[in-house]
Amino acid sequence: MITAGPTREYLDPVRFLSNPSSGKMGYALAEEAQKQGAKVMLISGPVGAYCHTPPPMRVIPVTSAQQMYRAVMQHAKQTDILIMAAAVSDYRPEKTSPHKVKKRPGPMTIRLVRTPDILAALGKMKRARAQHPPEADQPPAEAAPLLVGFAAETQNLIKNARDKLLKKNCDLVVANQVGKNHQGFASDQNQVFLLDRDKNITRSPLTSKRLIARFILRHIKKLLSKR
Ligand code: PMT
Repeated sequence: MITAGPTREYLDPVRFLSNPSSGKMGYALAEEAQKQGAKVMLISGPVGAYCHTPPPMRVIPVTSAQQMYRAVMQHAKQTDILIMAAAVSDYRPEKTSPHKVKKRPGPMTIRLVRTPDILAALGKMKRARAQHPPEADQPPAEAAPLLVGFAAETQNLIKNARDKLLKKNCDLVVANQVGKNHQGFASDQNQVFLLDRDKNITRSPLTSKRLIARFILRHIKKLLSKR
C-alpha cells in the first residue's frame, strides 16, 4: 500500500488548508513497485492530471486526512508493505461551513484541530501484530508489515527523521529536505536519506523521482530479505 499526494482540509466549499505535494513521488513508487511485481494499492489525495497509474493498480481517491486514515486502516491488515509518501495535513479547521464564508471587516480567526496521525496508528498496529504473531498456517500478510514513513523537513533533517523512525515504529524513514529549489515538493527530482533501525543512513543522489523510487524499493527489498 502506498499513499501519495496532499490532503485538503476544507474550511468551506471553496477554501482549504493543504500543501504543495504533487503526488509525483508516491506515484513513481507505486508504478515502480507494480513493475517489479508487487500488487499495489494506491491511496491518493487530490493530484494533478500528470499523475497516472497503469492498470491493474487499485487506486482509492481521498480528499481529507480523515478519509485517508479510514481508507488506510480499512486495507492495512491485508498489506505487507506500507509506504506513506502522502503529505497529510496535521490540522484541519474545527468547523467546515456548508456555505462560502463571507468576508467581514477585521481579521478572522480559524480554530484548527489535529487530524489523525496515520503513520503513528500503523506503527501501533504493527507493534500489536508483532506481539501476537500469526500461527504457522496463517498467510504471511497477517504478520507485522514493513512500515516506511517519509519525513519532510526544513531543518534538522536527520535528527527529526530518526525521531520519527523510533516514535512511529517505522522500519525505514525516507528523509527529504523540503523548501529547497529543485527537490522535495512538486519537483521532478529529489534527494533523500534512508534511515533504518540498524542506524544505517544511506544517501541518494539528486535524481529523478523514478530513480529515487527504485532506490527506496531496493532498500525495502534488502530489509525484507533480512526478516
Ligand atoms: O508529492 P511530491 O510533490 O512528489 O512531493 C513528495 C513529498 C515531499 C510530499 C514526499 O516525498 C514526502 O516527504 N512526503 C511526506 C510529507 C509529510 O507529510 O511529511 P511529515 O514529516 O509531515 O510526515 C511524516 C510522515 O507521517 C509521512 O509519512 C506522512 O505521510 C505521515 N503523516 C503525517 C501527518 C499525519 N496526520 N498522518 C501521517 O501519517
